[in-house]
Amino acid sequence: MTSLQGKKILLGISGGIAAYKMNYLVRDFIKLGAEVQVILSPSAENFISKLTLSTLSKKPVYSDFYGENGVWNNHVELALWADLILIAPCTANTLFKMVNGTCDNLLLAIYMSAKSPVFIAPAMDLDMYKHPSTQQNLEKAEDFGHFIIPAESGELASGLFGEGRLAENETILETINSFFDVKETLSGKIVLITAGPTYEAIDPVRFIGNHSSGKMGFSLAEEAAKRGAKVILISGPTSLNVENRNIELFRVTSAKEMFSKVFEFYENADIAIASAAVADYAPKEISSEKIKKSENSLTLELVKNPDILKTMGEKKTHQFLVGFALETHNEEENAKQKLFKKNLDMIVLNSLQDEGAGFKKDTNKIKILTKNETLKFSLKSKIAVAKDILDFIETQILK
Ligand code: PMT
Repeated sequence: MTSLQGKKILLGISGGIAAYKMNYLVRDFIKLGAEVQVILSPSAENFISKLTLSTLSKKPVYSDFYGENGVWNNHVELALWADLILIAPCTANTLFKMVNGTCDNLLLAIYMSAKSPVFIAPAMDLDMYKHPSTQQNLEKAEDFGHFIIPAESGELASGLFGEGRLAENETILETINSFFDVKETLSGKIVLITAGPTYEAIDPVRFIGNHSSGKMGFSLAEEAAKRGAKVILISGPTSLNVENRNIELFRVTSAKEMFSKVFEFYENADIAIASAAVADYAPKEISSEKIKKSENSLTLELVKNPDILKTMGEKKTHQFLVGFALETHNEEENAKQKLFKKNLDMIVLNSLQDEGAGFKKDTNKIKILTKNETLKFSLKSKIAVAKDILDFIETQILK
């Protein structure tokens, strides 16, 4: 296990008897080269000592917004420091608060400010674990894109036997290690990705656009880069930035600009993924001055934009070509049509009928369609969806 080397783990401990096991978990994380910042919920302090944890983690342990001598424990800084947040043990109470937006302690404020992946290892008595509200809250957490490390069966602190025991430390370590354990399976490949919306100018002030945030495309770029690919990311207007140095980001505005940029790189690409929400039409004329409000109605003549993906399909030589389909009805049928019409190797379908899927959110729910098969996936974080998409592409290109 070496993938934990240099990783920053924020371990949130809530108030359950299994908290005592975290001494060993912190020691193991440190031994494997991770940095660990421990945060306790106020009631966790009854179960475990700050002194032991800070000695093992070699860092101060916080449980309150305010430290000694009036120092503020900045929850935003702590949240952004972490590569991964692990809540273990996660009690029914902390779980409920996490999925319902309660923010009444430092641990919850950090959780709500976090951008990194969140892993939850629940632990509680068997009836609490089985209770429909706990199960629903775990489902909600999964819908938010968090990863659950399920409780195990065994003897519980109450003396009862059943499900609710914190997963063994070894299981927790393995789960987190394998999350970071990314093999350079795309080393030597060039992956071209389009992302975000396009803006089609009407005048110097206004444009026609859409709700794409770029999150899906940027997640794909980060994941492909992690796997060793050289990534060319061509994005419409978004506020996102890239982290991995293997990603070369080109920012464009309109569909025509995206089209030109794509074909500077397409010929040499091994894999091309079109996740951008490209405007199908643009105003025929762009007014050089702001259009003044005068009449009761205004008619704009729109003309068709070039179809970037269709053109990639026409020019395809060796590239593995992946399209997206954003649908609202007859989803599979429409996606299949796009697959054939645009000469794609596969298409990723997301439907606006599915809660949590599509634009802006951090989650998506997809189906992958090829000429011969359809695979369904559950609602996941866009980072996890990007992994699923690239895992599937790898199975296809290595056939
Ligand atoms: O950016 P996010 O907020 O994370 O949202 C992600 C997403 C919902 C935008 C993404 O998952 C998605 O579905 N992208 C494709 C949206 C879309 O425009 O779908 P479409 O069915 O209209 O287009 C089909 C395919 O043709 C797409 O791959 C699109 O990129 C491509 N296309 C469309 C028109 C055009 N002129 N040129 C194109 O390349």
